[in-house]
Amino acid sequence: MDGDPTAPFAATFELELLGGGVERRYRKMRPEVEAMPWGTLDVRAIPEPVLIAARRAWTGAAFQEHRTGVACALTLRALMEARAPLDLVAMACRFPLDEIVHVELCARMAMELGGGSEILHDPSTLCPDADRSVAPLVRAAELAVRYFCVGEALSIPLLRGTWHAAAHPLPRAVLGRIVRDEAAHGAFGYTFLDWALPDLDEGDRAHVARAADETIDEIRRSWVEIGKRPATTASEAHALGWMETGAYLALAARSLRQNVLDPLLLRGIPVRDVAG
Ligand SMILES: [Fe+2]
Ligand SMILES: [Fe+2]
Repeated sequence: MDGDPTAPFAATFELELLGGGVERRYRKMRPEVEAMPWGTLDVRAIPEPVLIAARRAWTGAAFQEHRTGVACALTLRALMEARAPLDLVAMACRFPLDEIVHVELCARMAMELGGGSEILHDPSTLCPDADRSVAPLVRAAELAVRYFCVGEALSIPLLRGTWHAAAHPLPRAVLGRIVRDEAAHGAFGYTFLDWALPDLDEGDRAHVARAADETIDEIRRSWVEIGKRPATTASEAHALGWMETGAYLALAARSLRQNVLDPLLLRGIPVRDVAG
């Protein structure tokens, strides 16, 4: 459960397609979804517990992509309110669509494995919005740092690692597609920050650093949970598209240092130096 299960709008995470002409236009925009080698996974050879874990992992991935889509949309609004450069905003307009494509790819992977697992969530608390009491530029910096300089910059190397680990052509193709889209998302946060930095004073930078700290703490808590999961053998994990836990967590710690803490500190954003 993401958020409070007793929340008034708590709901199962399920999505549908409208179909007809709308779906045809969407397919034309992003033909890569239909081009995946769907139907090539033989689930009969996979032991039941591994299959259940894989369904849960891919449903969870779909949900995370959905959350990231919301985060991209929130950031986009803040960029427009801050009157960020037009070409930079135009680039970021593509990101919510990318994430929607990723949601569909991950959800269809779960279906290929026999069906999605149930996720109960609170749509009202999916992603924190920026602090409305600060200036538009600081809001945009807060969200760009929270969701891109930390969130996307950390998930990209992990996705790339998972892609390299995936042995079967279907998860390999799905992860390869996601990794290709995400490369632009990873670079975006720092491009924005480099444009905004001259106009951010010490107080603004401290505000942005606090948002980064909060996001890093949340992600590190999720790593603790991952560390508690029962281990799968490397071969089973590789075939279905995820990394062995130890390798994943080691890469996560390295990525936090190289892709998040060092580049933020270098730019004068005083984040807490949590990695060893
Ligand atoms: Fe994504
Ligand atoms: Fe992304």
